[in-house]
Amino acid sequence: MASAAEWDGAAGSYHSFARFTEQFARHAVATALGPLSTRTGTEEQPLMLLDVASGTGVAAFGLIDALPANAWATVLATDFAEAMLGQLRAKASQRAEDDAAKHPHVTLQAERMDAQDMPSVRDATMDAATMVFGLHNLPNPVSGAREFYRVLRPGAKGVIVTWHWNKLREFIAQMRLEVGDVEAKAADYIGPMTNEGEMRRCLHEAGIPDACIVVDMVKGLPMQMSLEELVVYLRTNSLVPALREVDASLVRRVVSEDRGFGAWGDDSGFILWGTAMEVSVTKP
Ligand SMILES: C[S@@+](CC[C@H](N)C(=O)[O-])C[C@H]1O[C@@H](n2cnc3c(N)ncnc32)[C@H](O)[C@@H]1O
Repeated sequence: MASAAEWDGAAGSYHSFARFTEQFARHAVATALGPLSTRTGTEEQPLMLLDVASGTGVAAFGLIDALPANAWATVLATDFAEAMLGQLRAKASQRAEDDAAKHPHVTLQAERMDAQDMPSVRDATMDAATMVFGLHNLPNPVSGAREFYRVLRPGAKGVIVTWHWNKLREFIAQMRLEVGDVEAKAADYIGPMTNEGEMRRCLHEAGIPDACIVVDMVKGLPMQMSLEELVVYLRTNSLVPALREVDASLVRRVVSEDRGFGAWGDDSGFILWGTAMEVSVTKP
C-alpha cells in the first residue's frame, strides 16, 4: 500500500485522472444525499457532510454543488496526504467567490486524517458521507469501513466507491512490463475490495449489518487523456516509480497496440474507461 509521501508525490498530476473519477464521485454524492432531499439544515444545526480520502476534492466539491442554495452545511474533506489537500485548498480558493454566491451558508473544512482512525470525528455526527476510490487503498480496509460507519448518524447514508474495472490500471501494468519491472504482474491487481464478496466480508467484519448494504455497479463514460497528459501523469506519479523516466514514444506505441487503450490522431488519445462498484450503507 502506498504511503502518504507517495500519494503526496502523485498529487501534482492527479487532476488529469480526477477529471475521470469526478463522474463516479457525483454519482456517489447523489446516492449519499438521497435521504436528505427535504432537509436543508439550520444555522444552529447545519448538515454535517464528510468526504474521506478526498484527494483533490471531487466528491467534497460534488457535495457542495449538490446542496440547495438555502442549505446550512459543513463539508469536512479529509485525506492523509498533505499535497492532495493542498490541491483541494487551491481549488477551493479558485471557487470561493462562486461558492459564496451560490451556497452562502456552506463551509468547507479540509483536515489531514488517516481514514483508518478518525478520533477527531465524533460518533454518529455525520448526515452523509462519501469515500470515493479510497477504501481499496487502505492497508486495513476493515478499520476504514468501521470508522466510516461509526461517524454516521442514525438514518444517514455513507457511500463507498471502489473500482470494479479500470483500463488505466491495465495500461500501467502493461507499461511496467514494457520497462522490465518484474513486480508488474502483481500491480495489475487492485486488491480484494473491488470484489463484491470481499467487500461484503469486510463490511461484515466492520460490524455493518447486511441489511444496511446496497451494492451497485456504475458504468463510467469513457474520457480522453492526451499523450502529453498521460506522459506527465506516468512520469510524476510516485505510485509507479518504474515509469518515472518513461519515453513518450513507448507510451505512444503501447497505446496504439490493439488492446483497447485508445488511438493517437488529431482528435483521439488514451481512453480512460472503467466501471465502479458503489456500495451504500445506511445506519439504522
Ligand atoms: C485514488 S485517490 C481518490 C481521491 C478522490 N476521492 C477521487 O476520487 O479522485 C485515493 C486517495 O486516498 C488517499 N489515501 C490513501 N490512503 C489513505 C489513508 N490511510 N487515509 C486517508 N487517505 C488515504 C490518498 O492520499 C488519495 O488522495
